[in-house]
Amino acid sequence: MDLLDRLGAVVVGGGSGIGRGTALALAAEGMRVLVADIDVETAEATRDEIIRRGGDATAAYVDATDEASLAKLTARAEDLGGVRVLIHTVGVHTNAPLTTADENLWAWFIEFHLMSAVRVVRAFLPLLRGHDGGSHIVVTSSMSGLLALPAAETGGTDTGVYTALKHAIVGYGEMLRMEVAPEGIGVSVLCPGAVVTNLGSTTARHRPARFGGPLPDPMAGRTMSPDMIPSGMLQHEAVGPYVVRGIRANRAYIITHTEMADQVLARQQRLLDDIAFFATP
Ligand SMILES: NC(=O)c1ccc[n+]([C@@H]2O[C@H](COP(=O)([O-])OP(=O)(O)OC[C@H]3O[C@@H](n4cnc5c(N)ncnc54)[C@H](O)[C@@H]3O)[C@@H](O)[C@H]2O)c1
Repeated sequence: MDLLDRLGAVVVGGGSGIGRGTALALAAEGMRVLVADIDVETAEATRDEIIRRGGDATAAYVDATDEASLAKLTARAEDLGGVRVLIHTVGVHTNAPLTTADENLWAWFIEFHLMSAVRVVRAFLPLLRGHDGGSHIVVTSSMSGLLALPAAETGGTDTGVYTALKHAIVGYGEMLRMEVAPEGIGVSVLCPGAVVTNLGSTTARHRPARFGGPLPDPMAGRTMSPDMIPSGMLQHEAVGPYVVRGIRANRAYIITHTEMADQVLARQQRLLDDIAFFATP
């Protein structure tokens, strides 16, 4: 789709990190952006930054895991005069090996990764339908949705549960793309590698009471730096232009860390090797 001037975009999780970078980039294209976040002060800060740069934005509170809260957000989005772009970037990240993850951790991750995307899309689909020139949805997976990465490649974090949920987002996004294409709605799955954001802190701060409540901030007294990951990290504002490009071209995947192509190919090759193994009696 063409990101025409003044069309409406909603960024859920736009107060920080990849959502913030995407909100800034969409506004720079002339879109009117509704920045929504559970941390409304950060959503307001993104809004203020867009306005300071000459763009058009509003901000709102939302809890993307809560249907009633999303209903309020869709009502707010009516002010945009039509939603043409929907971005979902909510997620959580802690050390979460599969062998020690309990029911509570699984439920938390399922809720924040998969079900928040499902609920956000379900809430906004009626507003995305019926636009001449189409509309577009971006859901956020990760290179961990395309690869199974050892802790040595993820800054020492065990990403078993995270990886399982990011793979779920890939399946969800690809199937959604197929289902809504006839309605003129594009879908892209955003798969970044490592990006400098506040994910560790926001994960800890916003863990709901039903999953055990807030955790101590793992980043307290530390700042994230690009050298924490051996393969390097992007700054969050660098992600936005990739998202804009992916929406314009209606790409199934938005890939920010193209240098990881060899790892994706190697994984595909392992799959092909297994197919070849079973193809030979
Ligand atoms: N940072 C990375 O290296 C990286 C890499 C690949 C994928 N991702 C994914 O990108 C997405 C965004 O993460 P980020 O790194 O930008 O982190 P971030 O913490 O900087 O941004 C996430 C935002 O979501 C908000 N949020 C959390 N729970 C919410 C809820 N229930 N409702 C509404 N908003 C909520 C947070 O307040 C925060 O503003 C996540 O899905 C993450 O898994 C991150």
